[in-house]
Amino acid sequence: MTIHSSGKDFSAVHGRLTDWTPQASRDWGRAPIRLQHRLAETGLFTDEALAEIIDRYPVESYSLISMGAFGSERRWRIGRVDGLSGREIIDAIRENQLWLNLRSIDQVDPRFASLFATFLKELGEDVGGLDAFPGKMGVLISGPRTKVDYHADLPGQSLWQIRGEKTVYVYPPEAPYISDEQLQDITYDGVEKLDYEKAFDEGAAVLPLKPGEMLHWQLNAPHRVENGDMMNVSVTTEYLTTPIKRLNHMNLANAILRHRFGITSRTRPTSGPVYFGKALLQAGFAKAGLLERRVARSHAQSFVLGRNARGGFAMTDI
Ligand SMILES: [Fe+2]
Repeated sequence: MTIHSSGKDFSAVHGRLTDWTPQASRDWGRAPIRLQHRLAETGLFTDEALAEIIDRYPVESYSLISMGAFGSERRWRIGRVDGLSGREIIDAIRENQLWLNLRSIDQVDPRFASLFATFLKELGEDVGGLDAFPGKMGVLISGPRTKVDYHADLPGQSLWQIRGEKTVYVYPPEAPYISDEQLQDITYDGVEKLDYEKAFDEGAAVLPLKPGEMLHWQLNAPHRVENGDMMNVSVTTEYLTTPIKRLNHMNLANAILRHRFGITSRTRPTSGPVYFGKALLQAGFAKAGLLERRVARSHAQSFVLGRNARGGFAMTDI
């Protein structure tokens, strides 16, 4: 399903989305980068605009996530919404440790696809040798004090803050923060979460994030996020390049060799006979549907967000 443009004028963002810096060109992908951006000027992120988007959003393309039964239990749960309008969902998030991820919004709404394309074009102009193509774009609406646990992502990630404030902790993409095997397993079972130890914080870059700021960090760098005491609206963009895709193929092939055949391999060539051999191995695994089944199992829904008898919001187990 595609949501057609409602005529909202986002051409107000003239020229560039980011106020690029020479430092960003130099350090992109090598260190955490903070840039100013102008996404809020699109008008796409007000309560009203977001409510309209949620009302029309295809159910299969969003994730509703809770940190527990309205704050009582500290664990991630995936749920769905029952009978609430977009405005009501935003109100529930404003008061609770919930977040809504409008996944793949660039696939659903052409206004976001246009923003994503503009950003990738800027990136191509500003970072020498970078030929990025779209992975996914998402809009995250998250409640006060919500935390995103320690995890790592496979594509090149940026986090754009639109409303509210949060702190992002970024850790180096190397052991002990993330091992080769842990990175491989993300490609294998789709579970990005990693084991976190408090001592890791000594190696973290602590990056407060305010509206109008965007962060980018090193490929596969583990990170965690803590919201301030208010609702947050953020955008995530994930881009791929041919080398990133090939690295992910190698990570998956190495995970298959280890899990299925008991073979430990850490080589990750992105060309040549070993690359093509491993690329074939992981392609066969994906084609057999094994990858999809493993990923589906790790994303099962366990609650419904709706109204209780007194008209308040309620989370019910399923
Ligand atoms: Fe992430």
